[in-house]
Amino acid sequence: MKSAKVRVAVNGYGVIGKRVADAVSAQDDMELVGVADVVPDYRIRVAVERGYPVYASLPERSGELQAAGVPVAGTLQDLLAQVDVVVDCAPKRVAAANQAAYQAAGVKPIWQGGEKHELAGYSFVAQVNYEGALNRDSARVVSCNTTALSRISHALHGRGLARRVRAVLMRRATDPWESHRNGMINTATPETKVPSHQGPDAQTVIPGLDITTLAGAGPYNLSHLHFAMIETTRPVDVEELRAILLETPRVALVRAADGLEALNSVMELMRDLRRPRGDMWEVAVWEDALASDGREVYLTFQVHNEAIVIPENVDCIRALSGTEPDAARSIAKTDASLGITRHFLPSSRPPRVTPGQGTPAGSKGAEEPTAPR
Ligand SMILES: NC(=O)c1ccc[n+]([C@@H]2O[C@H](COP(=O)([O-])OP(=O)(O)OC[C@H]3O[C@@H](n4cnc5c(N)ncnc54)[C@H](O)[C@@H]3O)[C@@H](O)[C@H]2O)c1
Repeated sequence: MKSAKVRVAVNGYGVIGKRVADAVSAQDDMELVGVADVVPDYRIRVAVERGYPVYASLPERSGELQAAGVPVAGTLQDLLAQVDVVVDCAPKRVAAANQAAYQAAGVKPIWQGGEKHELAGYSFVAQVNYEGALNRDSARVVSCNTTALSRISHALHGRGLARRVRAVLMRRATDPWESHRNGMINTATPETKVPSHQGPDAQTVIPGLDITTLAGAGPYNLSHLHFAMIETTRPVDVEELRAILLETPRVALVRAADGLEALNSVMELMRDLRRPRGDMWEVAVWEDALASDGREVYLTFQVHNEAIVIPENVDCIRALSGTEPDAARSIAKTDASLGITRHFLPSSRPPRVTPGQGTPAGSKGAEEPTAPR
């Protein structure tokens, strides 16, 4: 491993960008050189409070930022001259316009899921295809939903156990910070395009995966809810499924029997655990909803859209810069720095529920087997 720190810029300091900036700052092998944006509201002023040098993504917006009291260290071009990798977190479709600037500066861009696969030609989920991104000139960290589907699908597909995946996604209507602008109320919107884009997108990460997704959105902003039905190549019972999930990075089991009955209670747990911004980087799979009929396995899981791609961006920086050739080591390093876990409440794990049957709160389940933590 090279000793020099990877120098990183974040362009676009919104929902994803601000979290990526904080996560990069937490790495001992990376240096956050600066962040860039165009809007001088409270969000970029938090970057100033954190001591991050702020740059103007567009030169013509520099005056506006300065007029609002934001100390502007220079333009995006000035920032790019100092870095190895830029994590572009500008709004979807806006970001792609930055490609020429990154090429001219000789800086490797990491795009987000709002951009098309073709922009980088490589769609990234660390535990699936880290090695293929090593020393590449660019990569795209896929969307929150695709990241979750890839983690879960790969857990079975990577073991030769997934014949086909069918998933239904109930997406959040909007993000918390802009809920007053875009929130929906007292309705739900089914997408009429089948498959929804997340299935084909997962195939850019896991070629050959037979997956179809249907999606819709509901009037909440806390995260997404997925239901997956995975036809297996041989019978996989709930015990085996559970053991596989416990071995899968960035997947954690939660239990309705512990009071974690819904999206809000899982997010409340994240706040109680004093996680930054209440973030959940893991896919939370309901242990008491796991089921198998010998032909298919059934999973219900929660995806915190604001947070799940953050560790992926950190690993992608290591992959593109070539500073860590081993996926497992990068994942372990990122996970340790952020506090990513397989068990949210490891010190008081109650006896295991019998999956698929649901266990009322307070009742006793079977003994907990030894499992990786
Ligand atoms: N919000 C999510 O749940 C989520 C999850 C996963 C991936 N993504 C993807 O991440 C990307 C960013 O999404 P977001 O939700 O963080 O958006 P956001 O709107 O919260 O943040 C975008 C930021 O970019 C800034 N910006 C606008 N124009 C810019 C420009 N020309 N140059 C630089 N910055 C500019 C905005 O001021 C804002 O601060 C998108 O591709 C999105 O699809 C979003």
